[in-house]
Amino acid sequence: MASTGSTPFPKWQLAILLGAPLAIGLGYLYLRNRLEDPEKKKVADLKAKTTISLDNEENNSKTTENALDRAMKLKGAGNRAFHAGEYDKAISLYNEAIEACPPDRPVDMATFYQNRSACYEKREMWEQVKEDCTFALKLNEKYVKAFLRRSRAAEKSGDLVLALEDVTSACILERFQVQSSLVNADRILKALGRQHAREALARRCPVMPSKHFIKTYFSAFSEDPIGKIQLDDNVTGGFSKAKKALDTQDYESIVDACTEELNANGNYRNEALLLRATFYLLLGRHDEAQADLGKVIESDAPVKVKVNALIKRASLYTQLENTERCLEDFAKAAKLDPNNSDIYHHRGQVYLLLERMDEATAEFAKAVDLNPDFSIAYIQKCYADYKHAQINKNVGALAQARADFERALERFPRCAEAYILYAQVLSDQQEWGRAEALFDSALAVDPNNATLYVHKGLVQLQKSTDFDKAVKLINKAIEMDDKCDFAYETLGTIEVQRGNLRRSLELFEKAIALAKTELEMTHLFSLKDAAAAQLKVSERWGLDWTVS
Ligand SMILES: *[C@@H]1O[C@H](CO)[C@@H](O)[C@H](O)[C@H]1NC(C)=O
Ligand SMILES: *[C@@H]1O[C@H](CO)[C@@H](O)[C@H](O)[C@H]1NC(C)=O
Ligand SMILES: *[C@@H]1O[C@H](CO)[C@@H](O)[C@H](O)[C@H]1NC(C)=O
Ligand SMILES: *[C@@H]1O[C@H](CO)[C@@H](O)[C@H](O)[C@H]1NC(C)=O
Ligand SMILES: *[C@@H]1O[C@H](CO)[C@@H](O)[C@H](O)[C@H]1NC(C)=O
Repeated sequence: MASTGSTPFPKWQLAILLGAPLAIGLGYLYLRNRLEDPEKKKVADLKAKTTISLDNEENNSKTTENALDRAMKLKGAGNRAFHAGEYDKAISLYNEAIEACPPDRPVDMATFYQNRSACYEKREMWEQVKEDCTFALKLNEKYVKAFLRRSRAAEKSGDLVLALEDVTSACILERFQVQSSLVNADRILKALGRQHAREALARRCPVMPSKHFIKTYFSAFSEDPIGKIQLDDNVTGGFSKAKKALDTQDYESIVDACTEELNANGNYRNEALLLRATFYLLLGRHDEAQADLGKVIESDAPVKVKVNALIKRASLYTQLENTERCLEDFAKAAKLDPNNSDIYHHRGQVYLLLERMDEATAEFAKAVDLNPDFSIAYIQKCYADYKHAQINKNVGALAQARADFERALERFPRCAEAYILYAQVLSDQQEWGRAEALFDSALAVDPNNATLYVHKGLVQLQKSTDFDKAVKLINKAIEMDDKCDFAYETLGTIEVQRGNLRRSLELFEKAIALAKTELEMTHLFSLKDAAAAQLKVSERWGLDWTVS
């Protein structure tokens, strides 16, 4: 997710890059492909073992046959009652079927429980549904229908962990071929990811992002009012301390210094509020950020200060998935300061995220128009134009976007962003060699930016599926910056692909600890939850996905 709405390289692009549905995660995708080989046979065997009934036992006594016959007839009557909408009657017929069923016919017995649970489902009696599905699964442990039904009941009753585990079991048994199950898994993962993200945020100790990240964050505001303030040497007080800390990258002390200015009721109250809010945002302390920004917006602060606060609050609303309030703030900002390029640049990012491409391209164009030297806005315009052309399959516009990128490289040779986004476009087009060369150029410009190694690893992966080479590059990113969450996330997804589910869980944990926004966290928890569910089911059935 676009961290705080302002990292020029939004995270969600990773998912797009690797072609994965956002929350299902690569695990599913990968498994789906992998199940074409040896594991497929294993799952098929498992399935066969439990779907054949015990017909091969020649020794069915007469009484067993008669009893089964009777049970089948009762079930038939139950089905008819069910289809007539007479659920109570159906339940009692299935009850009789269960009683009549000989104990050496577990698969048939499982069906009767499953039939009864269908009635409870109609009656929305979720606990009973779950109980009957559990009985059915004890009798037939690879019963897809029972997994799917228990998953639905668990989701309805708020037990998302069980819902996910069951839908995962079903997906594996169906070899990831049934679209509706995948869609259910995706929905449950998103909901569970969000729930876990909220829980984690509530108890988390905020972490300061890396210096590099913070620098990039500030560089996304060409009209940053704090940066433009020049204080005389003789000015003292909290805000002046905060400014000095900002200039010397001593970020940890900024919040306290701003608070000092506010407590002393100093001359730079609004600026101190804005700066403190910015660091609350960077730390993921949303409520506090929102409170401070609200005060600035309501105050009589200078226009640039207010507008900056509005842009930041709008980005915060995006993270909280409140699009309406977000766009309201942007509109307010545009009214206050219609020539402020930052507004359009950031609003363009939001539209990009919302996949409203027409509006995104228009916003970026306006941002560039107002401030032609703002390299990041210019590059993002190129990128948005490219995406727009791609969606509309417009070959002419695609060529134009590429030409614009080439021009951008000439115009902003020191802007790492230009190389990165163009490289992304080229790897999209499978021009790996050129993409790699561009990442090397970006490294020449921005040698301390660890994420560039992650990008290089991703190109490697796309071009040759060479896991080891990719992992080596990404590990280099971690060596350079052990707070590089993008590296942990990417490694985690690679380990899922390689079948090292346990390892992937550790990596996702690390990424989660560093995540700065709720959206980002939700996404990461979805990935982790998907891997955890797969691991659990795999262990239960002795499935091994590892790639040697
Ligand atoms: C068949 O069942 C009878 C009793 O029901 C038992 O005595 C006999 O040993 C069984 N035969 C086989 C082959 O299992
Ligand atoms: C009962 O189970 C059978 C076998 O799975 C199935 O064909 C039938 O549709 C089920 N009836 C209901 C009401 O679920
Ligand atoms: C590295 O550079 C890219 C593009 O300029 C930027 O999006 C990213 O935030 C940078 N990495 C860090 C850690 O700041
Ligand atoms: C600080 O210095 C400037 C000149 O550099 C002067 O105009 C101003 O009055 C001084 N302020 C204080 C509080 O001493
Ligand atoms: C915005 O810029 C245009 C063109 O430069 C100018 O005519 C207009 O007065 C400006 N508006 C504001 C509110 O500054």
